Amino acid sequence: MKLIYCFFAFAFLVKAKDVPEEMVQYYLKLLEEYATNFTIWEHPTDNRNFFQLINEEAEAKTGRFKVLVLEAGGRENDFTDVPGFAPYVVRSDYNWGYKAIPQKRCCLGFKNKQCNYIRGRGVGGSTVVNYMMYVRGNKEDFDKWGSKNPGWDYESVLHYFKKYQNASLRLEDAIYHGHNGSLSVEDVRLYPEAVKLFRKAAKQRGRDILDYNGEDQYGYSTIQAMTKKGTRCSANKAFVEPTMGRKNLELLDHALVTRILIENKIFVMARNIMQQHRKKSLFQVVR
Ligand SMILES: *[C@@H]1O[C@H](CO)[C@@H](O)[C@H](O)[C@H]1NC(C)=O
Ligand SMILES: *[C@@H]1O[C@H](CO)[C@@H](O)[C@H](O)[C@H]1NC(C)=O
Ligand SMILES: *[C@@H]1O[C@H](CO)[C@@H](O)[C@H](O)[C@H]1NC(C)=O
Repeated sequence: MKLIYCFFAFAFLVKAKDVPEEMVQYYLKLLEEYATNFTIWEHPTDNRNFFQLINEEAEAKTGRFKVLVLEAGGRENDFTDVPGFAPYVVRSDYNWGYKAIPQKRCCLGFKNKQCNYIRGRGVGGSTVVNYMMYVRGNKEDFDKWGSKNPGWDYESVLHYFKKYQNASLRLEDAIYHGHNGSLSVEDVRLYPEAVKLFRKAAKQRGRDILDYNGEDQYGYSTIQAMTKKGTRCSANKAFVEPTMGRKNLELLDHALVTRILIENKIFVMARNIMQQHRKKSLFQVVR
């Protein structure tokens, strides 16, 4: 198993030009650590300010809100940042490991006919484990939803798609993309030769090569990816990290909460906060 991982990593790393040798060694080491320890492999947790936040009762009475974000999983790290490592990340604890119920007509190649249902466990959720493809979906679907749910038609959601996005794409219908948001969307740069042939064939047959998140969605394209300078740009990097300096916000990772008690609209206690791998109750929060 380990050998296979290293082989893939090597194949991936040698493709990228101008990468210093130390960097290659660094990522190979990460991959080896992962291959050996992948079920317990995570970044250290940081809960320095947690109690301070909860115990500041006075602030709560002023009517200003304080926000505590409890996340069952860990935080991203250099390993999850590498797009080519995505197939390994889904095999780690960054994935909840759900399975679909046994199916009758699909998932036939899986044990017990149960497909893997990959959902991310970590700050940034499934954007930490996905393959980073930026695909908004079909405009007509949004318009269908919008016909019964005001605000969900494509015209309305496009405003938000653009607001959060910073696109830098070679082939782009500019009015469909934003350029001042925090989610970076770029072209995937490394492609096998077959992709070039595919494009050529599409052109020969008179198909459009287009921006599939743009005006016309019927045609061929290479992938638009949620990456920043080639590394994963998760929801954590785009939306959570920029807010971490706020005084009224705290984030605690490795905190699986099974119950939250609220009395008179005030948060009293979060119970059974577990530290994932130690499988024991870590602490209770009491006002
Ligand atoms: C795997 O984890 C163990 C226990 O934490 C550690 O001692 C060992 O060095 C790790 N192996 C690698 C290759 O990182
Ligand atoms: C880009 O966003 C920043 C911060 O939100 C804002 O100050 C600036 O005016 C925006 N620039 C443009 C061109 O919209
Ligand atoms: C958008 O991306 C470009 C190219 O990567 C970068 O130069 C620019 O600073 C980014 N803008 C924002 C608002 O992050």
